[in-house]
Amino acid sequence: MKLQFDIKACLAPLAEITDIPFRSLVREFSSCLMFTEMISAAGAFQNNQKTVGMMKLAPYEHPIGVQLFGHNPEQLAAAAKMAADSGADMIDINMGCPVKKIISDGNGSALMKDEALAGRIVEAVAKAVSLPVSAKFRKGFSADSINAVSFAKTLESAGASLVTVHGRTRAEFYSGTADWDIIAKVKEAVKIPVIANGDITSPETALKCLKQTKADGVMIGRASLGHPWVMGQIAAAVHNEPIPATPTIAEQKQIVIKHLNAMLDFYGEPSGLFQFRKHLCWYVTGKKGASKFREAINHIQDKNIVLESIAKFYDEQES
Ligand SMILES: Cc1cc2nc3c(=O)[nH]c(=O)nc-3n(C[C@H](O)[C@H](O)[C@H](O)COP(=O)(O)O)c2cc1C
Repeated sequence: MKLQFDIKACLAPLAEITDIPFRSLVREFSSCLMFTEMISAAGAFQNNQKTVGMMKLAPYEHPIGVQLFGHNPEQLAAAAKMAADSGADMIDINMGCPVKKIISDGNGSALMKDEALAGRIVEAVAKAVSLPVSAKFRKGFSADSINAVSFAKTLESAGASLVTVHGRTRAEFYSGTADWDIIAKVKEAVKIPVIANGDITSPETALKCLKQTKADGVMIGRASLGHPWVMGQIAAAVHNEPIPATPTIAEQKQIVIKHLNAMLDFYGEPSGLFQFRKHLCWYVTGKKGASKFREAINHIQDKNIVLESIAKFYDEQES
């Protein structure tokens, strides 16, 4: 199925990060395609309320893909229907997660070891919904099983409209450097669009990756942590538009406060505050007094004191 939206710059699915509060912040900087965090197809199939809640999308989020993980074609098809009903613009299947708990159940990158099953999953999901279906996978499972090219071809034949390739094996997790050459090989081998992923951190690396791989788009994960505005900068670069300036310290202070308030609204207290701590650590990284601030903030339970501490930390950066 043909994609009806721009895929040149995409926000990666990031577990426990790309939730509604984070996505709403990214949306302020870019109209890029975004993905939810990975959502359990088994949980959705069993109508687990927390899982179903993760499929909730806000009206301003489009274009947005819901990412599902699982290994059972029937469950994935049922979960994809639920995601479609919730307003998803596309369905992505996680075939790249390296985490032991996920792969020991046959999910995530474990699917790279069973191309036939991965194909049946894409086929079942593509039949179940009238939305584009994609899969996100890695270079291979390990150094002795590099199969991204044949894997992509299998998924294309099964009905995938797009593939995203992270240029590392499962065995590498996030270590070393992403291999963009394997992405170039996938791009040469299939007719469907290919999104390149891994180590794209800036407008410059995005352009370099597009040039090297000839991919149709780039996907950004870790570089957005603590820098949601980077999505606007990378999207501008890949569209040959002027790159927006990095927000000033005073603007960053407002972004951080807005993010915290959005987390508090969405998750309530104290959950929103606890879940925000990791974001706060990323926001302050590299700034004056960051390690002392991090240590202090992790012990504060009162949102008003956290808000005051954030304001003070950022004001001190300018002095
Ligand atoms: C904290 C964290 C959570 C992640 N969660 C997911 C996920 O839910 N689904 C997925 O397909 N990939 C997930 N990934 C992988 C990223 O989407 C991406 O493929 C990887 O970080 C490489 O891209 P980057 O170099 O731009 O970060 C996660 C990565 C990190 C660091």
